[in-house]
Amino acid sequence: MCGIVAAASSRNVVPLLLEGLRRLEYRGYDSCGIATVDEDGLKRARSTARVAQLAEEADKAGLNAVTGIAHTRWATHGAPEVCNAHPHFSRDTIGLVHNGIIENYEEIRERLKGQGYVFYSQTDTEVIAHLVHSNYHGDLLKAVQESILELRGSYAIAVICRDEPHHIVLARQGSPLVLGVGDGEMLAASDAMAVAGVTDRIVYLNEGDVCDITPDHYDVYERSGRVFVPAERAVRIVQAYSGAIDLGPYRHYMQKEIFEQPRAIGDTLEGVVGITPRLFGEGAEEIFKGVSRVLFLACGTSYYAASTAKYWIEAIAGIHCDVEIASEYRYRISVPDPDSLVVTISQSGETADTLAALKHARDELGMTRTLTICNVATSAMVRESKLAYITRAGVEIGVASTKAFTTQLASLYLLALTLAKTQGRLSAEKEAEELKNLRHLPAALTAVLALEPQVIAWAERFTLKSHALFLGRGVHFPIAQEGALKLKEISYIHAESYPAGELKHGPLALVDESMPVIAVAPNDRLVEKLKSNLQEVRARGGELYVFADADTNITTDDRTHVIRLPEHVGMLSPILHVIPLQLLSYHAAICRGTDVDKPRNLAKSVTVE
Ligand code: G6P
Repeated sequence: MCGIVAAASSRNVVPLLLEGLRRLEYRGYDSCGIATVDEDGLKRARSTARVAQLAEEADKAGLNAVTGIAHTRWATHGAPEVCNAHPHFSRDTIGLVHNGIIENYEEIRERLKGQGYVFYSQTDTEVIAHLVHSNYHGDLLKAVQESILELRGSYAIAVICRDEPHHIVLARQGSPLVLGVGDGEMLAASDAMAVAGVTDRIVYLNEGDVCDITPDHYDVYERSGRVFVPAERAVRIVQAYSGAIDLGPYRHYMQKEIFEQPRAIGDTLEGVVGITPRLFGEGAEEIFKGVSRVLFLACGTSYYAASTAKYWIEAIAGIHCDVEIASEYRYRISVPDPDSLVVTISQSGETADTLAALKHARDELGMTRTLTICNVATSAMVRESKLAYITRAGVEIGVASTKAFTTQLASLYLLALTLAKTQGRLSAEKEAEELKNLRHLPAALTAVLALEPQVIAWAERFTLKSHALFLGRGVHFPIAQEGALKLKEISYIHAESYPAGELKHGPLALVDESMPVIAVAPNDRLVEKLKSNLQEVRARGGELYVFADADTNITTDDRTHVIRLPEHVGMLSPILHVIPLQLLSYHAAICRGTDVDKPRNLAKSVTVE
């Protein structure tokens, strides 16, 4: 999703801006651009290729100045073409980059056209550039403040001006923006990772803030009705994540992240010596005690983590649990239960729909018991929730989520145990046994990762496939769903997932010798039922690829291929079973030659609706 970097310094900011963009590449983008300003005016370079290509363009265009803005764009309004790439200029006076969506851009554009402004792009962003220009009478800060009063929707913007070349004006509403306070230089970016190479001193701007930066200081203004008043925003030290962008011995970040999972889960569970509400923050005990329901809100892979956790919460804690796709929930009329624990799950903590769903549940439906499970401790969702559990996956760069998912699962299992304990449903013996099983997870994951060579052999058979069907039952059905999502995201093979018991209600019609059917087959109480479902596939000439626990007695034959997982870990089994599905997608994508870490049309962090 779109990424912003801006810098005001006493040295040439072009290398800083390009490095910042490179660090934001993982978010996904389809064009990029950079602009500088000095006494000679505005200059820019834009490209629909990668940031490396933009660096060459910037060089050719002779960009070299102490103030500049840069952007990676993920197309919403207008195709990914150079004319739509940011920065956008207005009459060679105002230069602007934007992340977000302006909902009333059409009416503003019509009005500005009437005033003689010419539009060179199809973007909503160019409207803001002209709007700022139309409000500019020698004071950029004022012009930005006046302009944003007219905007509806979400935005993070960074604005430069030919007539004021030594500062940058920033504003945010609904899209993330942070400041990086350097030594005699000031940066701004969509996330702290973009500035991690320069500084770990970070300022988080609040919703509605406008900020003016120069190399030596930042002035923040908060909105109070239609006026802006000075505000204080503290500097926080945020651990630099620079190490995370080294690939090490791996070919792709996704592969690196798959193999990091034993470490990530170990870190996420580190320090858990007993099951206690305190793990989820101050006041958790009070909040958990009165909980009558759990409501999960999430998108994408995080949604499948929630779907898995529903099985755990109901089975272990005996609490009714609902799982909602955030983008649907925020707009549907639902029946709130004030005693619900609203749990948002998010790798980034910035996903626009999940954040809006959280606010909808809390502010409009009055459900104030809020918890976020998140990989970014400083994210908006964590800040908006009363309680939080931070997964310690480390920065996830691959667009397709892997280690974030399994660390979410481990945290959600802890939540199920904690709710069970607060409801008096977890004996001391059971608690000790569960903790032992959790501690064993890193070793169990390592053993599953050793299956990679066998998975590679299977993946090659998927190279020419166009469709695939994933089956699972019970708590492994969401794992089958996640497996299908992974395969379509990065290999572009159309994949569907079904609870195996539903086969004969439709999907069986699709099964023939060209349709691979992938089955998740743990040795749980549903295994015999699953075996019958697999027979239904075999009888129709389907080709089966089964990930089976060692003692399931599912055997290989001419059309049934089996990879055996070394051990069955009871209720925690989904955390192991997703691993071979991640590996299968990864290697199928490699065989098909796709851009694994940056699949087409997708973004890592979806900060617009
Ligand atoms: C995007 C990413 C997915 C992710 C989803 C939710 O679609 O490509 O990998 O699962 O957003 O993101 P979140 O950060 O809220 O978990």
